[in-house]
Amino acid sequence: SVTRHYKFDIRLRNITRLCHTKSMVTVNGKFPGPRVVAREGDRIVVKVVNHVPNNVSIHWHGVRQLQSGWADGPSYITQCPIQTGQSYVYNFTIVGQRGTLFWHAHISWLRATLYGPLILLPRRNESYPFEKPYKEVPILFGEWWNADPEAVIAQALQTGAGPNVSDAYTFNGLPGPLYNCSNNETDTETDTFRLKVKPGKTYLLRLINAALNDELFFSIANHTLVTVEADATYVKPFESEIIVIGPGQTSNFLLKTKPEYPNVNFLMLARPYFTGMGTFDNSTVAGILEYKKPLVAPKNTIPTLKPSLPAINDTSFVANFSSKFLSLNTDKYPAKVPQTVDKSFFFTIGLGTSPCPKNQTCQGPNNSSKFAASMNNISFTLPSIALLQQHFFGQANNGIYTTDFPAMPLMPFNYTGTPPNNTRVSNGTKTVVIPFNTRVQVVLQDTSILGAESHPLHLHGFNFYVVGQGFGNFNPNTDPPKFNLVDPVERNTVGVPSGGWVAIRFLADNPGVWLMHCHFDVHLSWGLRMAWIVEDGKLPNQKLPPPPADLPKC
Ligand code: C2O
Repeated sequence: SVTRHYKFDIRLRNITRLCHTKSMVTVNGKFPGPRVVAREGDRIVVKVVNHVPNNVSIHWHGVRQLQSGWADGPSYITQCPIQTGQSYVYNFTIVGQRGTLFWHAHISWLRATLYGPLILLPRRNESYPFEKPYKEVPILFGEWWNADPEAVIAQALQTGAGPNVSDAYTFNGLPGPLYNCSNNETDTETDTFRLKVKPGKTYLLRLINAALNDELFFSIANHTLVTVEADATYVKPFESEIIVIGPGQTSNFLLKTKPEYPNVNFLMLARPYFTGMGTFDNSTVAGILEYKKPLVAPKNTIPTLKPSLPAINDTSFVANFSSKFLSLNTDKYPAKVPQTVDKSFFFTIGLGTSPCPKNQTCQGPNNSSKFAASMNNISFTLPSIALLQQHFFGQANNGIYTTDFPAMPLMPFNYTGTPPNNTRVSNGTKTVVIPFNTRVQVVLQDTSILGAESHPLHLHGFNFYVVGQGFGNFNPNTDPPKFNLVDPVERNTVGVPSGGWVAIRFLADNPGVWLMHCHFDVHLSWGLRMAWIVEDGKLPNQKLPPPPADLPKC
């Protein structure tokens, strides 16, 4: 294994999309940002230098960060942000992971423009547990705002209303040929992602959903995708024409091209899956799968085939698709599911308006309240100093955070009954403290209070096994006997179904402070997050090392 060095210069750069030019925050002037590539076992060292007015931090989404919690990146959780003119070196090793992940900014909504692929190859002498692809292609799904996304969320939080939705979805930063400026300035040649392929080959598509606020359906006309990996773990291969991928999820697919040159082009389309109320970007992004022919007919004479996608709220398609994911579970890549648990948690996920406490003035519309999102009735507020620093230096009791995050919601939850009485939300920086090597089970229950929506829940620092899921109320007596403890999929982000629940298990073998949150940035901004504190173990290799000297200060 080797050490791979990267330099990220955070710089402003003018970028034009949808006939609209704006100055935006980029890494090295690139949008999307540069690829980071490593093999399993390699060390990655990234020096991030901040040349922009914004505070910045970078998260290596899905990287286990074993005993390298200082490199995880969420602002005010594992580090203070990197301020203008400052720098920080992220230094971590890839242990037991191969596949596709991504990196993104982890402060406010900066990840709208700061994200890029993180590609983890197998060790040099190891091959994939599937057919060797002819070529590998990362495709990042993103969202584009003509406005500055930082201004969008700042305004939303100030007024207490929902933020403006994006103006377009993108494939590798490109909105595609469906967009036409009124003055016809869209250059569909350069604004469209084209996947140029040869016939009779197998391509590995590394799909990354880096969109801020939407799960997406994706399909390529007349082609089938074979899923082989999810969140940098191998899965039992399965075929589908349409896939669905939540923000924070990454997945590898094999695409077999037609045996002969077809006389058509094939559109690839993505558009959201959405079940809630309120506004969202319901547009479609298109790219083109194009067979390179030695002698090409004039471009505009080639017909294009379109795939069809499920209805925007097709929850049963999503549930069926996600149930197909199972761990590969071979001798080489075994599923290590905790067969018993030491600690069990039940977290409700709620979305609504936080009530204005009596005798107070609230900033929401009509002095009512603001949008708030919560787990177990707690809307998490970011502290003023990074939790990991506070934890490491043993200053837990100075009011920065508390350790009383509830194991259960305020009141029992009943999805099928009349609107439950547990809509109360209070603010706090509350954490759960667990000993090293605790086997944890968490049932995540969507409450569908004010707008039934599914939530892509992401855990930092661990992969978890998705041992069960269902609709309606989780039943603590009848559901656990049905859990899959043999070959459940291992992920870092799972969709908690709208009006349903998901049960996950993980082994807390990584000391540090680990954020768990909804990967919709709008819900994250409203407080749908909490933090686990995993204590050091007894052995030297079970302890969190001290912070690097250049750890940013708040
Ligand atoms: Cu990809 Cu905490 O995020």
